[in-house]
Amino acid sequence: MLAASGTSGGRLRAMTGRSHGWSLSGPAPDPDRFWRSGTMWLLAVLVPLLRLYLCGMKVLWYQMRHRSFRLPVLPQQKGRVAIVTGGTRGMGLETARHLAGLGMRVIIAGNEREEGSAAIRTINAESGEGQAEFMFVDLTSLKSVRHFAQAFRDTGLPLHVLVNNAGTMLVPERRTEDGFEFHWSLNYLGHFLLTNLLLDLLKSSGGRGCCSRIINMSSATHYAGELHLDDLNRRICYSSHGAYAQSKLALVLFTYYLQEQLSAGGFPVTAIAVDPGMVDTALYDNLWTLAQMLKRPVAKILFRTPAEGASISVYAAAAAEMEGVGGCYLYNGRKTRSSESSYDPELQEQLWKKSCQLVGL
Ligand SMILES: NC(=O)c1ccc[n+]([C@@H]2O[C@H](COP(=O)([O-])OP(=O)(O)OC[C@H]3O[C@@H](n4cnc5c(N)ncnc54)[C@H](OP(=O)(O)O)[C@@H]3O)[C@@H](O)[C@H]2O)c1
Repeated sequence: MLAASGTSGGRLRAMTGRSHGWSLSGPAPDPDRFWRSGTMWLLAVLVPLLRLYLCGMKVLWYQMRHRSFRLPVLPQQKGRVAIVTGGTRGMGLETARHLAGLGMRVIIAGNEREEGSAAIRTINAESGEGQAEFMFVDLTSLKSVRHFAQAFRDTGLPLHVLVNNAGTMLVPERRTEDGFEFHWSLNYLGHFLLTNLLLDLLKSSGGRGCCSRIINMSSATHYAGELHLDDLNRRICYSSHGAYAQSKLALVLFTYYLQEQLSAGGFPVTAIAVDPGMVDTALYDNLWTLAQMLKRPVAKILFRTPAEGASISVYAAAAAEMEGVGGCYLYNGRKTRSSESSYDPELQEQLWKKSCQLVGL
């Protein structure tokens, strides 16, 4: 269940009135201003929270009535190379395991060396020595992303599949070393830069009838997302719910625009956004204690397992029927219509340009 996260700085500022220049000992508060800031808080914090809850309810209602998508038999992937970001645990680990099991060489890109070593030990024990490797990347740092991309190039390996999976949810207001809002940076911007830095490698590794594939892990929460192009870092009234939903919407917009460019250039690369449903992973660790307690029994019955959730990424990465298919949103094994705003070509282009500016491309 999607629920309230820790207190946000924006919310605190709005509620104490400190940012509005009055205090208990000072002059009386201006009631007009008070109501204006109250309304602003309601719109900026409460509305995204409710919209996200509603999305969560809809997904759970669907999961109550439908079984998890079952993977078809997938072709062997020997000779192909994949990068899975956030492959140390949760769905990323399951995706990496499955792809390695199909014979792919898998690079787990993550920011916890110990977790990374444990993940590759597990995968290599199951699929054979050398099938998986760990490489360090902190997706919240543009410098680290650039460093990772260069280190990967230096290996001389081709790149056939890039799974942009790493993510976080409902983090209290926080900035990265580059000054970006945390969800924006980790879930979207880091992946935007990584994909662009590896794009020529993906292009040269693909071929006719065997396109390279980019898989962007979005979420049903993108339906609740709004892109604030003039405040992407959510400096005005922070909402962790709004920030998460915005980052997931940005991934869909990015996928569609990227596919347009790849198709126009005739490159053998496809880009797909995937939605795993609601999956029982550590992603929900930032919920309030009470919400955690409520989530636990619901998750046991209605959430998907990490392996079930990962099947959508594995399908997009390896299924024969997905060859040459890009520019779409996959949910429960099927192409599904994403939010109306995600198809807006102007918004896609504006986001692309803004993102290039932000990461210095
Ligand atoms: N669970 C769901 O219900 C659900 C639904 C829709 C979409 N999704 C999306 O699915 C993706 C995977 O999430 P999950 O549910 O499997 O959650 P998870 O178990 O928490 O996995 C998140 C992964 O991201 C990695 N990560 C976090 N910060 C990072 C950083 N700075 N640099 C590099 N990697 C970092 C984590 O690695 P470390 O442990 O090393 O930090 C971990 O491997 C996310 O994008 C999430 O938004 C999840």
